[in-house]
Amino acid sequence: MAIAEDKKLEMVCVVAMARNRVIGDGTGLIWHLPGDLKRVKALTMGSPLIMGRRTWDSIGRALPGRLSIVLTRNAHWSAPEAVAVSNMEAAISAGADWLQAQGQGEHRIILFGGGEIYAAGLDYCNVIEATIIDAEPESGVCFPAFDENAWQDTRLESLASGEGHPAFHYHQLVRKIPPADLISNS
Ligand SMILES: NC(=O)c1ccc[n+]([C@@H]2O[C@H](COP(=O)([O-])OP(=O)(O)OC[C@H]3O[C@@H](n4cnc5c(N)ncnc54)[C@H](OP(=O)(O)O)[C@@H]3O)[C@@H](O)[C@H]2O)c1
Repeated sequence: MAIAEDKKLEMVCVVAMARNRVIGDGTGLIWHLPGDLKRVKALTMGSPLIMGRRTWDSIGRALPGRLSIVLTRNAHWSAPEAVAVSNMEAAISAGADWLQAQGQGEHRIILFGGGEIYAAGLDYCNVIEATIIDAEPESGVCFPAFDENAWQDTRLESLASGEGHPAFHYHQLVRKIPPADLISNS
């Protein structure tokens, strides 16, 4: 596969996590943050999404305008609107091929979660678009521990708490040293 030279293929992680890195209860999200789903839509539209089979189950459908690439070790798993793959390299390859076929100039593959998939793909990510929630749930699925010194962290916006949700903050973390090559011979 050949990606346009001027726009290098890039993987971007999109996540909402508590201060202690909890991202969900195992079957779904813990908070419904006003505006956050809209933000996720804007960040991901036109890109392939790499997600784990459990995250796919929690969403239950493909998100319009994006390709759902679902990692599973079950060779028999399929869903009509998803591309099933058995490892991260195959997921990246499927994403790159789809972007090229779209021909829209989009060059970002989104690492969409959940916890196992963030752990498998974070080394490839150049950017983390994070929603950080002012909470510390006692249990749940976590974003992997990562070296905060390796990332330039910029707080973009803070939003106040409201009915049923704590305050939360949008952060953009950019890797200080380039990530692992997405496609070794591109
Ligand atoms: N807050 C957020 O931003 C956010 C985003 C996404 C998800 N979430 C939450 O995260 C939770 C789910 O996360 P999770 O860690 O339990 O599950 P997950 O990462 O969504 O999916 C795990 C599944 O992916 C497959 N898998 C994992 N690693 C693989 C690999 N290296 N190769 C092939 N297949 C692989 C396996 O599927 P099989 O079992 O089929 O083999 C595994 O059971 C939910 O609560 C969800 O709501 C939160």
